[in-house]
Amino acid sequence: MAGRIPQAFLDDLLDRVDIVEVIDRRVKLRKSGKNYTALCPFHEEKTPSFSVNPDKQFYYCFGCGAGGNALGFLMDYENLDFPRAVESLASSAGMEVPREPASGPRDAEREQTNKALYALLDEVARFYRGQLRNHPEAQRAVDYLKGRGLTGQIARDFDLGFAPPGWDNLMNTLGNSPERVALLKDSGMLVENDQGRLYDRFRDRVIFPIRDQRGRIVAFGGRVLGDDKPKYLNSPETAIFHKGRELYGLYQARQANRKLERLLVVEGYMDVIALAQHGISNATATLGTATSKTHLERIYRLCPEVVFCFDGDEAGRKAAFRALEAALPCMEDGRQARFLFLPEGEDPDTVVRKGGEQRFLQLLASAVPLEQFLFDSVAEGLDLESLDGRARLSKLALPFIRQLPAGVYRQLMFQALAQRTGLDQASLMQLESSATPEPTQPPAGHPAAPAHPPQGRPPHQPAPQPRRRAATSAGAAGYSNLAQAAIALLLHQPDIARLADAGALEDLEGDDVELLRELLVLLQRRPESNTAMLLGHWYGTPEGELLSRLAGQERLIPSEGIEQQFIDTMSALARLPHHSRLAAQVDKLKHSNYAEISELEKQRLREMLQEKQRRDTERNKPYK
Ligand code: UTP
Ligand code: MN
Repeated sequence: MAGRIPQAFLDDLLDRVDIVEVIDRRVKLRKSGKNYTALCPFHEEKTPSFSVNPDKQFYYCFGCGAGGNALGFLMDYENLDFPRAVESLASSAGMEVPREPASGPRDAEREQTNKALYALLDEVARFYRGQLRNHPEAQRAVDYLKGRGLTGQIARDFDLGFAPPGWDNLMNTLGNSPERVALLKDSGMLVENDQGRLYDRFRDRVIFPIRDQRGRIVAFGGRVLGDDKPKYLNSPETAIFHKGRELYGLYQARQANRKLERLLVVEGYMDVIALAQHGISNATATLGTATSKTHLERIYRLCPEVVFCFDGDEAGRKAAFRALEAALPCMEDGRQARFLFLPEGEDPDTVVRKGGEQRFLQLLASAVPLEQFLFDSVAEGLDLESLDGRARLSKLALPFIRQLPAGVYRQLMFQALAQRTGLDQASLMQLESSATPEPTQPPAGHPAAPAHPPQGRPPHQPAPQPRRRAATSAGAAGYSNLAQAAIALLLHQPDIARLADAGALEDLEGDDVELLRELLVLLQRRPESNTAMLLGHWYGTPEGELLSRLAGQERLIPSEGIEQQFIDTMSALARLPHHSRLAAQVDKLKHSNYAEISELEKQRLREMLQEKQRRDTERNKPYK
């Protein structure tokens, strides 16, 4: 019997075919805006309500609710079962359908594959290193590195290499069997073009191997030698490489320091290496992504202090504020975060090359502590001489302070806020509990009010007002609950799943929460999934119907601020558990005879009510 069709193949297939072509061959489509429409083939109608979205590769009928991806369409239209629809679609795309062995311990399998990937990337790194020494054109790369002030020693410490010019150097050297070629592809080292031809991802670039915490090579970065674009290329996410987790240079920093006092977070590969070249061996870089909470937890497990280094321009300050937001929930007592703003146009690499270690250390000493950066950012544009300005300051700052974990540091922050605002703690508490929809705009007419995070976008966490926002926008948008609103946003832009923690929904019960959780888990496992793949996953189930309907309501999705909206919606959800569990229980009570409810259930209900009371009191009382 044929085995399962691998999910990766289905993803690939959906990626290759165009739903517009697939449908148009069977039902004549007409372009209408960015979508295509037709009379719906699944129900009788006079005016077209059937619509095909080429960007997201799915169709939806507003008349009868039919919807899905290209595979679903084929199944319904041609009355095929799933494997047949896959076969049919694959053959039209000129692809062969592979089958997994009928069964097998999947974890063990995955572990095997990962092992093979690590081993392969080790060979790849060795290949690139060798090319830096031996390739006839390597002198250009060597000159480039020397020109940036690096010695051979530091190039060895960071295993720098050279991907020579040409389309298939790596493939020809290491891809000596179909299995190895497949593995090279899975590791992101080979790219496939539209015609299905494979070629080397990295060509004519200096190569920076990326090691995980344990020193295994998991990915690569590559820099052009000149001014070509893109300047840097990175491996894609793979089974063993997740950008949101890895920090470039962390392994080397740990090798170089027996005990780390602090770690620096800089922006680029070259910053890490240039700093190391000048004796500053505790720098790490995020890989072209914002610093995540995962990054920070990793750092804080190793040392008590992190210093973020940013460019002093507007973009740098924004990035810094995002880092601050990620840091807040991690700031347990004993941990510290500071922010270093370099002179505009400088990065750690240029500073240390011009001014040496001393100059950089001098700047480092001037890095501002998190509390100062927070208060300064929030106070920007406010007149702290006026009572109103000070009241605004506390209102803006409180939501951030509340995100700190309970502890002495959090209490100190409340005190610091009290000092800065001249308000006593009792008044702060009053502000804390008042839920008036505070305007989040900067003071009118203030010239220096930039699109600054605390003002330009409302803090999201436990602040009452964004909660209300998420709730109203969800309501106004016609979703019957918050979970649906979150699902709709995920369908629209699946990559925002990285912003959420499926675990946070754990003890939440309610309509569609389970589906939301499953979506998040799926997306965290397969971050590249697009809308069509998601629809495919639930095809033919009641959940699938809900998903198609939500995906079809695209016009309800805001055009901007999707990420923030998602964060707001998720945190609003996370704050509802008791409410909804309680509501479900109360619902049950209403619909049943009290005598039929078990003692245990009554007891649980009482406990939940007490817990709710406790939480409500606590919410209005941030500190003792
Ligand atoms: P920068 O453009 O600031 O690079 O990007 P840099 O480190 O100063 O580069 P040099 O000094 O010109 O060599 C910072 C980081 O952003 C990511 C890389 O991780 C880079 O190190 N990046 C940048 C990319 O992934 N792709 C790009 O095209 C550019
Ligand atoms: Mn630079």
